[in-house]
Amino acid sequence: MKIGIGSDHGGYELKESIKEYLNQLGVEFVDYGTNSLESVDYPDFGKKVADAVLEKQVDRGILICGTGIGISITANRIQGIRCALCTDTFSARMSREHNNANILALGGRVVGVGLALDIVKTFLDTEFEGGRHERRINKIDEITC
Ligand code: RB5
Repeated sequence: MKIGIGSDHGGYELKESIKEYLNQLGVEFVDYGTNSLESVDYPDFGKKVADAVLEKQVDRGILICGTGIGISITANRIQGIRCALCTDTFSARMSREHNNANILALGGRVVGVGLALDIVKTFLDTEFEGGRHERRINKIDEITC
């Protein structure tokens, strides 16, 4: 599995920790920035990773900003993206089993590194259950207004 990862300055440090963890796990990734703590605008990075997921450059995405809120709102504006902002592993598991989330969002100023890495691992390891959940996801994609 190949992961696309991106953040603003508020998520930069957590992004670097997650990259280290992905290396340890042997998970391939592409880093779409940002590359420092210098202030940037989270929509720019949310869109880059969302586009990479939709264009199948990567299989799933991970987005981080200070709270995870702005960058997840951005990603969810894009048709076909199901971005789940998670602060616990139960939500991360459900976001895959029930929602087939294709992007995980995290708040770099909200969750500690240890919890964030557990959330990432859960997101990576959990498969979509399909069945009735497929029908519900299709209904999300039918909403265009
Ligand atoms: C940047 O200061 C901060 O607003 C951003 O990282 C994020 O938390 C927005 O939702």
